[in-house]
Amino acid sequence: MLTLTTIAGVRSRREEAARTGVRIALVPTMGALHDGHLALVRRGRELADEVWASVFVNPAQFGPGEDFERYPRDLERDAALLAGAGASVLFAPATKEMFPRPSATVVDLPALTGGLCGAHRPGHFRGVALIVAKLLNVVQPHVAVFGAKDWQQAAVIRRLVEDLDMPVRIEVHPTVREDDGLARSSRNAYLDAGQRRAATVLHRALQRAAAAAAGGERRRAALEAILAAEVAAEPLARLQYAAAVDPDTLEARESVSGRALLALAVFVGATRLIDNIVVEVP
Ligand code: PAJ
Repeated sequence: MLTLTTIAGVRSRREEAARTGVRIALVPTMGALHDGHLALVRRGRELADEVWASVFVNPAQFGPGEDFERYPRDLERDAALLAGAGASVLFAPATKEMFPRPSATVVDLPALTGGLCGAHRPGHFRGVALIVAKLLNVVQPHVAVFGAKDWQQAAVIRRLVEDLDMPVRIEVHPTVREDDGLARSSRNAYLDAGQRRAATVLHRALQRAAAAAAGGERRRAALEAILAAEVAAEPLARLQYAAAVDPDTLEARESVSGRALLALAVFVGATRLIDNIVVEVP
């Protein structure tokens, strides 16, 4: 695996790939890699000839008081995992390489970011949309792979690519979980043993609400109440939001029908965890 740290280096390697007709899948990450990330790399290998991964802890998507400074960083370990999963290129730029000066350009999708995580992390999705637009422009992959764990993020990126006619296919891979259902996340590393046990409440709550939906519960308020009640029963957990919305538009309706996204953000101690599930409402 080749590690590149400059945009110029990526562009020249990209031109070489174009000359030989090599198709590229990009997997953008912030590092601290786990099986969820590696599943995206493996999916990329099915979709393209080469997988290029990026590791960049993007300051633009962290709010004041969030965990930018203490976000886990271990590039050597990440590189070994990516190579093991079959990635061909790792792009790991320094902050100055991506942001030699603050971006004057704002990439904003207010229609998709007013609710869910967007309501609680002002500016977060602007930072995500900006860095993903930059990475897609730098790498120019044929396909880019994202995880369903960050459903709102994937919806934002899909729409960004559609609205701006960016020539890339967006692939969304199902959430990879631990054996007890907890969604894999770099932030799980912040949890102590008791908090780790408590963190299973997200998956449990989603399963409860999904079962109610499968049983015919269509009222949004009722589904959200089931999610909230399950989280409330866990003393170490504090609910930030529980939502049942349209999976594509992320809009809330009185009553859900067809497909519905059930989504949660929960603090376990100081650690903010998210999870979601898509259900068919009969
Ligand atoms: P990061 O949190 O490192 O996640 C990188 C990719 O891995 C995202 O597409 C995310 O949805 C996916 N992912 C994380 N946990 C997963 C899991 N348990 N199962 C499946 N996929 C999972 O998301 C970001 O970084 C950043 O916002 C980024 C898109 C890189 C822009 O900075």
